[in-house]
Amino acid sequence: MAMSLDLIRTQPYTDWSPEVSPETQATLRRELEQGAVLYFPNLHFRFAPGEERFLDSRYSDGKSKNINLRANEGAVRGAAGTQQDLTDLYNLIRRYAESTESLIHALFPEYGPHMTRAGTSLRPSEIAGRPVSWRKDDTRLHVDAFPSNPLLGKRLLRVFHNIDPEAPRVWRVGEPFADFAGRFVPKTHGMWPGQSWLMKTLHITKRARSEYDHRMLQLHDLAKADLDYQKSVPQQEFQFPPGSTWIVFSDQLLHAAMRGKAMMEQTIYLDPAAIGDRTHSPEAVLSKMLGKPMLAA
Ligand code: SIN
Ligand code: FE
Repeated sequence: MAMSLDLIRTQPYTDWSPEVSPETQATLRRELEQGAVLYFPNLHFRFAPGEERFLDSRYSDGKSKNINLRANEGAVRGAAGTQQDLTDLYNLIRRYAESTESLIHALFPEYGPHMTRAGTSLRPSEIAGRPVSWRKDDTRLHVDAFPSNPLLGKRLLRVFHNIDPEAPRVWRVGEPFADFAGRFVPKTHGMWPGQSWLMKTLHITKRARSEYDHRMLQLHDLAKADLDYQKSVPQQEFQFPPGSTWIVFSDQLLHAAMRGKAMMEQTIYLDPAAIGDRTHSPEAVLSKMLGKPMLAA
């Protein structure tokens, strides 16, 4: 039997621009940076009239499971429908991006100057039972890391919202990053000379991969491939009910999404300089374990 944890920190806010005292801001920031889930059961994101139709996965184009909006783009990707549908989807997803951004500004004013809006998505398909390879299987515990998009130490701050009116979104969350790293870092490898340059030249990566990205990707894969670890690691299941919101550092918190129908998600890149206490940051943990800085190219 896996040991249990308590990583969920429940918050009272009902508004996307809440008034938060400096003391509370400091507490929330500390908890988030330590790897907790900030959970807002009463922070609802409302559909405008007619938008509920997008709960139906027929608005996905069939190739991508998500409908995405990239920051600074004027149209969504991965969607199918009439021009009006695409405009309405854009407005919905854009509104979510703006709501989450104002929430982050209200909760973590220190992050403001260091954050960059990345993708926003609507994920209108049931998670359970999807046929995917083990590497893409997000029902296995993992930390987020991207093969082609090296982040060079930028943090992944994500704001999730369960937009389904009926089904909870069921997650598992696992042990602290330092424990996870302690188990798997000895099985990871550095890059060979020229590898970073070659992957960039061949367009395998969008920019040169740092050792940090290289090790994080291996950690992602090692965790997902180890079924015994998946079962035995200290973990907790949590059901995010319809209409609830939660915030995590998804490059730090071990997470898995087990069941759920429709979610919205905002990704924010955060400069590492924004982190108040870097002790728990993946980059700091890896640099310490390996005895050298991870971000030298
Ligand atoms: C993930 O980030 O691993 C998936 C989250 C979700 O679909 O709930
Ligand atoms: Fe993930």
